Amino acid sequence: MKVKDISARKILNSIANFSLEVSITTKDGIFKSSVPAGTSKGKHEVKEYIGGIDAAVKNITKLKRTIKKTNFSSLKDILSFEEKTKGYGGNATLAVTYSLLKALAYEKKVPVWKLFTKKKKIPMLLNKMIGGGVHAGEESTTFQEFLVLQKPTNLKKNISLFKKIGKDWGFHGRDLEGGWVINVSDEKALQILRKYDKTSKIGVDMAASEFYHDGIYKYKKMSLARTDGKIVMPKLTKDTAEQIRFVRYLKNRYDMYYIEDPLDENDFRGFAELTSRIGKNTLVVGDDLFTTNPERLKKGAKLGAANACIVKPNQVGSLSKTIEFVNLAKKYKYTTIISHRSQETNDSILADLAVGLQIPIIKIGLTGGERVSKINRLFEIMGE
Ligand code: PGA
Ligand code: ZN
Repeated sequence: MKVKDISARKILNSIANFSLEVSITTKDGIFKSSVPAGTSKGKHEVKEYIGGIDAAVKNITKLKRTIKKTNFSSLKDILSFEEKTKGYGGNATLAVTYSLLKALAYEKKVPVWKLFTKKKKIPMLLNKMIGGGVHAGEESTTFQEFLVLQKPTNLKKNISLFKKIGKDWGFHGRDLEGGWVINVSDEKALQILRKYDKTSKIGVDMAASEFYHDGIYKYKKMSLARTDGKIVMPKLTKDTAEQIRFVRYLKNRYDMYYIEDPLDENDFRGFAELTSRIGKNTLVVGDDLFTTNPERLKKGAKLGAANACIVKPNQVGSLSKTIEFVNLAKKYKYTTIISHRSQETNDSILADLAVGLQIPIIKIGLTGGERVSKINRLFEIMGE
């Protein structure tokens, strides 16, 4: 495949911040891609745009001569081209890579996921029901996400659960990813979820780094506690040992299967301790802990920190590194979960990557064009 032209421009993402869109022209037409951004970003993520988004637009335009001279006949060619965009920032690199994938897939008359694998396995859906943390205002839960895992063929079950929660509790509106904002304690939110769905696998993304400062986890609210039959005002702060105890209590009481970022993003030892206690039948998931970075995953695996990891290509800023990360996770027997971000675009390539990289779970919201595009693409892939 030969590229005839490349251009870039700024577009709006789902919360009206700027994102980058890259267009690639081949003899077959124009192929466009864009990349999301995070709000509760991990400290170890790469920069989205080096020198700002305007610099990325200029840099990509300057790639014209080099890209025209390159022949792209396989995924490998696309991955080696990532070297050329290295200094532009992770989102710039990925927007170019994704557009090349779409163009090459079109030329080969296959869907994008088939550039990676012949074996099709459709991932489970991990849908956000309730949203809080920095994805909502002060009047919300401390934890960022309350989630339900479902087979795609059971999507209806999650939709009806989402609507029921919204009908009874939706008066505070939605968070950045479309989850219902409920102004209650985290424990109460779990009670609500369990009241409407007693049997599904549920979980949370605590995004704990967002409420961890100087050794202390600080909660917005806490359910009232009882001591010797008397109601006592609960403490809103926890040190690491108390946090681990609290996570274990919630896990057991509400039968949680999925727990993401329950501790600070640098606390590998805390993650290891928690994993050794609950990791047998629970996914202890590192998102900000690993930031899709192979080196951080190696460190985590050595210590036994977590047993599952989030995959967000733009945390590490290249598809090559993302593939290396996913392969490492498979080697270490960590479950992978590919995830949307809070500032999404309408690009649906996440679904192709989920199937292509054989990732067993995709984490996604249920409403809004930017989320629905990925769910709809997943259903389209089922028929391909
Ligand atoms: P972000 O959050 O996209 O705002 O970083 C998503 C997550 O923490 O899983
Ligand atoms: Zn997360």
